Amino acid sequence: MKAVVVTDFGAQPEFVDLPTPEPGAGEILVRVHAAGVNPFDWKVTDGALKDSVEHTFPLVMGSDGAGVVERTGPGVTRFRPGDRVYGQFMRLPHGHGSYAEYTVAEQDGNIALIPQALPFTLAAALPTASVTAYQAVQAARVESGHTLLINGASGGVGQSAIQFAARAGARVLATGTSDLADHLRDLGAHHVIDFTQAPTHEQVAAAYPEGIDAVIDLVTPTGGDINPMAELLRAGSTLVSTNYATDPDALAARDILGVNLGNRPTVETLTTLAELAAAGELRVRIDAEVPLADAPAIVARARAGHATGKTVIVP
Ligand SMILES: NC(=O)c1ccc[n+]([C@@H]2O[C@H](COP(=O)([O-])OP(=O)(O)OC[C@H]3O[C@@H](n4cnc5c(N)ncnc54)[C@H](OP(=O)(O)O)[C@@H]3O)[C@@H](O)[C@H]2O)c1
Repeated sequence: MKAVVVTDFGAQPEFVDLPTPEPGAGEILVRVHAAGVNPFDWKVTDGALKDSVEHTFPLVMGSDGAGVVERTGPGVTRFRPGDRVYGQFMRLPHGHGSYAEYTVAEQDGNIALIPQALPFTLAAALPTASVTAYQAVQAARVESGHTLLINGASGGVGQSAIQFAARAGARVLATGTSDLADHLRDLGAHHVIDFTQAPTHEQVAAAYPEGIDAVIDLVTPTGGDINPMAELLRAGSTLVSTNYATDPDALAARDILGVNLGNRPTVETLTTLAELAAAGELRVRIDAEVPLADAPAIVARARAGHATGKTVIVP
């Protein structure tokens, strides 16, 4: 099969031929129809989990994918050949990922059935970004009438988070450049903050001097200074970081709940999101659909930023 792999931490992705994997006991072989691209994909190949998880090289890149069950291994009861499925397929100890024509998953892994109405490309765009958005909005304790800032709202996680927060009844402040403002408002943002015109925290502080109820920060890197976001918050509020940038103890001293969120997909959450997307109630903007052979170039481009939605690889 064709696949995109790295041969070591920090190595450039390569488009190669690999043997098609065989499903073992409790595993399914999935013919990948679409693979979603996430910053996590290259953070992992750069070595983010080097010290905590075993990796096997060559390592097929990618987590998110959607496709059809081709074969099942012994003992598989949850899936049958022909099932349309999606979820997270990154299995670092086995060298498996979603940027490939085929991948192997555990039947008990983060894999769910998808409705017939949900196209593979849309399904593949959901697992990491939309599960993170869904769980970030829950973690932010958003309630009707709350004012919430989503910092980094123009990307994959942010666009879904706008929709979940707006549906919860929040007043959503979303960062984005002027070319995206109409789109972000259409998703549910009440106020779009152009972070290229003036620092986001200055704009929000000027508009909400009494403080806001929650921030979901998708921008501040691990070890970065998230204090300007914390200073926007009133007592009893919540600061959620997807990059482990908050110090919950320091925030607790200011009566702010700090949450470092790692997404934890469950089959139930994946099923809910697939149903919402199939019904058009969760919208995902697809920036580009690219062939597998172009994935190395796409990863290089995506690393440079400027996501305005999701990129999907179509093997
Ligand atoms: N912990 C977890 O489980 C988890 C899960 C998913 C994602 N994440 C992390 O969460 C972050 C967002 O993920 P994503 O998939 O949404 O990434 P993405 O699709 O690349 O989107 C990031 C967005 O942030 C914008 N941005 C960059 N700098 C900004 C700034 N200073 N102010 C406002 N916006 C800014 C980018 O626009 P420009 O590039 O045009 O500036 C881009 O639109 C990433 O760091 C990712 O690794 C963590």
